[in-house]
Amino acid sequence: MTHLISLQDLNRKQVESILEMSAILKQKYRDNDRPQPLAGYFLTQIFDKPSLRTRTSFEAAMVNLGGSGLFMTSEEAGLNGRESLEDVARVLSGYTDVITIRTFSHQFIVDFAKYSSVPVINALSDELHPCQALADILTIREAFGKDPQDRRLVYIGDGNNVAASLCNITAILGIPMTVCTPDNYRLSEQFLASYQAAYPDADLVQTADVSEAVNDACVLYTDVWASMGQEKEAEQRKQIFAPYQINEEVLAAAPNDCKFLHCLPAKRGLEVTDGVMESPQSMVFQQAENRMHIARGLFHWLLVK
Ligand code: CP
Ligand code: NVA
Repeated sequence: MTHLISLQDLNRKQVESILEMSAILKQKYRDNDRPQPLAGYFLTQIFDKPSLRTRTSFEAAMVNLGGSGLFMTSEEAGLNGRESLEDVARVLSGYTDVITIRTFSHQFIVDFAKYSSVPVINALSDELHPCQALADILTIREAFGKDPQDRRLVYIGDGNNVAASLCNITAILGIPMTVCTPDNYRLSEQFLASYQAAYPDADLVQTADVSEAVNDACVLYTDVWASMGQEKEAEQRKQIFAPYQINEEVLAAAPNDCKFLHCLPAKRGLEVTDGVMESPQSMVFQQAENRMHIARGLFHWLLVK
């Protein structure tokens, strides 16, 4: 059974297949050609955190491909004490063809997948956000026509789930990556241990210095300073992360053809200014749209034999 829980579970060929299928299906969608290979298929989504892009793009993708979907919280699924995870996973597998899960604990998704007989997709955990990283690469390829090999994808902000999945996918594809964070908000030690074991030759630079980071950037990327579940830390983080805002000055210090990406939702005025979000270098809405094309490519890759 193939799941998508961490990109570290996939090899380069598998990642390329998902990206390629997504690009093909995107072009078809543009041409109003909407094949429905998943007619009669059913998607279940279990989400314990809010979502605009992930929830909607997965459901739209499944409907586009001919199937349909259902959304519930883990409480509604009975996972808050009514029934065990082991039982819920096996029961749901009998009704559904693919399950997406967005929750806090990464281990919860790993455990659920152990008992599921259908593919489980990580729709974001506290540790990783693999589908976002796939959409980000699709967007970068659309901008540059290829993967950057001698320029860097530069992530500035919190060393969070989005940053970790970007590290995984850039390592798989051989894209040089810089992660620029305040010292106490670096990528977690646990993530770095798994990353270094999986990709001993990856080109990853970690720094706290924004001006050093932006020099040879082909993409500047940021995310919220306080992720879902960290709301109580938001005020403190605002002070600590203030020097890490991507504003017009930071964008101007990067090469002229540098693009700006953000997984969204954005807190305008904090991690990014309005000016950068709305600048011609910003690709954030194309990037958001690409979540659906990646969802279609991923469902196709997982479910169409
Ligand atoms: N980027 C992203 O995952 O957005 P949502 O939280 O709205 O799904
Ligand atoms: N790091 C953010 C990403 C939201 C898509 C969070 O986990 O809230």
